[in-house]
Amino acid sequence: MKSMFPYALILPLTLFSTTLFAEPIPHPSQSEQQRDQFVTSLLKKMTLDEKIGQLRLISVGPDTPKSVIKQMIEKGQVGAIFNTVTRSDIRVMQDQVMQLSRLKIPLFFAYDVVHGQRTIFPIPLGLAATWDTQAVTSVGRVSALEAAQDGLNMTWAPMVDVSHEPRWGRNSEGFGEDTYLTSIMGKTMVEAMQGKDPADRNSVMTSVKHFALYGAVEGGREYNSVDMSSQQMFQHYLPPYQTALQAGSGGVMVSLNSINGVPATANHWLLTDLLRHQWHFKGITVSDHGAIKELINHGVASDPADAVRIAIKAGIDMSMSDQYYSQYLPGLVKKGAVTSAEIDNAARHVLNVKYDMGLFRDAYSHLGPVGSDPKDTNAEDRLHRQEARQVAAQSIVLLKNWHHILPLQKQGTIAVIGPLADSQRDIMGSWSAAGVAQQSITLLQGMREAVGSSATLLYAKGSNITDNSKVQAFLNLYEPAVTVDQRSPQQLRDEAVAVAKKADVVVMAVGESQGMAHEASSRTDIRIPKAQRELIDAVKATGKPLVLVLMNGRALDITQQDGQADGILETWFSGTEGGHAISDILFGDQNPSGKLPVTFPRSVGQLPLYYNHLPTGRPYDFTHPNKYTSHYFDINNSPLYPFGYGLSYTDFTLSPVTLSSPTMTGHHTLAASVMVTNSGKRAGATVVQLYLHDPVASLSRPVKELKGFQKVWLQPGQSKTVTFTIDKNALSFWNQEMKWVVEPGQFEVMIGTDSVHTQIKSFTYQ
Ligand code: NOJ
Repeated sequence: MKSMFPYALILPLTLFSTTLFAEPIPHPSQSEQQRDQFVTSLLKKMTLDEKIGQLRLISVGPDTPKSVIKQMIEKGQVGAIFNTVTRSDIRVMQDQVMQLSRLKIPLFFAYDVVHGQRTIFPIPLGLAATWDTQAVTSVGRVSALEAAQDGLNMTWAPMVDVSHEPRWGRNSEGFGEDTYLTSIMGKTMVEAMQGKDPADRNSVMTSVKHFALYGAVEGGREYNSVDMSSQQMFQHYLPPYQTALQAGSGGVMVSLNSINGVPATANHWLLTDLLRHQWHFKGITVSDHGAIKELINHGVASDPADAVRIAIKAGIDMSMSDQYYSQYLPGLVKKGAVTSAEIDNAARHVLNVKYDMGLFRDAYSHLGPVGSDPKDTNAEDRLHRQEARQVAAQSIVLLKNWHHILPLQKQGTIAVIGPLADSQRDIMGSWSAAGVAQQSITLLQGMREAVGSSATLLYAKGSNITDNSKVQAFLNLYEPAVTVDQRSPQQLRDEAVAVAKKADVVVMAVGESQGMAHEASSRTDIRIPKAQRELIDAVKATGKPLVLVLMNGRALDITQQDGQADGILETWFSGTEGGHAISDILFGDQNPSGKLPVTFPRSVGQLPLYYNHLPTGRPYDFTHPNKYTSHYFDINNSPLYPFGYGLSYTDFTLSPVTLSSPTMTGHHTLAASVMVTNSGKRAGATVVQLYLHDPVASLSRPVKELKGFQKVWLQPGQSKTVTFTIDKNALSFWNQEMKWVVEPGQFEVMIGTDSVHTQIKSFTYQ
């Protein structure tokens, strides 16, 4: 059995600043100087076509089969390959480079390793729900190890797009709605996946995405535009990208959206002024799929050649699934519309990352000798099940536990119902890389193993994911992703009701299919699909105690089900070991410790709904309702479940906040502490969260902002003092003059175990 956290890096749990400052120009290190000299001399040997070849990222697939790729390699027309995931396939292509190409510049190989490669961990939203950097480090290390052992050099991850839009399907791939939490999780992922050096045999280089602001697409509609104030941008949306780059990410993938009218792929300010000149980024920028061509649709390029000219001038180095760079760059250079220096600059970035990947030292660094390729890439012993089970258990959020229905006893008769209860594919979530569905553990399997012969489990599917044939067709467009049971909805429900009636308690696995929370999966209705809601209604009518196990990749509107269920577990898509992990929680073998990284609204009509909103001039006070205040007349302003929320099988109490001083001056720091006590009867963990508020400033400041957190594990009766160090950066904001400032005055410190129930104390900054 492999040990837990075998590669854990020790990450300081101190407050970490995510404030965005232009960095002073760093002096190149000795190794950077060596790299620059190496790349400069290599560039001198390259023809224009070879340089353009380095800018091409080719996806292996029907449009570019391996035979075509071989010809491209021979002519030096490829820089990197993606969507190939076995060592033997990769080796063939690297061999071709070494044997057939003039300059033998190694290819790098990339893939979307977003939450695991062979072993699938919870989706990133679930990883964020752990609020545990050690757990996320373990995910990053294991994913990098498995990816590197498959011969990969780069991953298109982490995705650090902050989003306030649960309608957007890609919420599943990110770390939620908060800047600070996303920054910490993104940084942790970069550090873990790149290890000490991305060139290491067990590490891969990361490519942070999608730069920038992709999570803010209007209305949550995929690929839509983004229009945003400078304050929102700098304060809330840009810091996670910068933090990931400061952590050393070698790559950046550019987003598909426009920003205030200028598509990111055409955005010189974003890709050159900010990224290169202010942040001094030396790695590669990669366009997203089709993005260069789409500049024509965006209405900023007149034809393909124009699109290419704009993209390279804006700062796109590598063109994903390239057709256009190779076709149009030579002509554009010839007629002077693109300069050789611009080509050199982009090629230099590509060669820089290849150097940093160690490929010029050893083109086979992640491949090893020929005979070492795994005989079976999907072999069971390549998986890291124990790590996956631990992390998945930590990602689960207990939303409701009426009369302590949970944990369940392993006795009596338990009905397991729902279209997600036995789906090996769905539990892995979207972007499950090279994960194999047949290797994942469903809830039903996990519960069966957990109870053995001590309880009777009865199972009924109960409904399809959805009965809407259009949605079924959408989900099954490219592959049979959702199996549709041909029995009528009534037949399926009747079976479930009959099973429920025989049981002492019902556990229902409901929510979204994997494909409903993915790229291009925006929804206007974020409720559990109707077929499943009707199933819940029917089972509820039996009067049996009801536990809902939610599987989904976004915040859902579960207002109705919240009124029906006795217990609710938010399990996201929990990965290869999901079924084991959920059972561990259901039966109390593990105590839930996850906290929501997103706000759960009462209704889609409240969106966008996020905890760190600005105050209004007419705040609504439900204790003194006033018509002319900011509210909806048909629903509360408050969320159903707030950001940072999650219950445990034990109780935690917090002492009042103590501050090291009532004032903070200049660059000095202030310590804010609370004592947290496990006042219940079980061992468990909670997340102590620090929020700050600047009540009077030259701009309205959010009502609170997360600025620190610590996950604390305590035995019953045990206490621990948690201390956060507040520095000047934590108080700063992007003002009207577009500068980071801290304005002297009073600040509020709020510490709690969610974003609503906090202890408050004030201090003065001078
Ligand atoms: C498009 C997606 O937007 C991006 O996230 C992904 O990395 C690429 N395709 C490659 O698969």
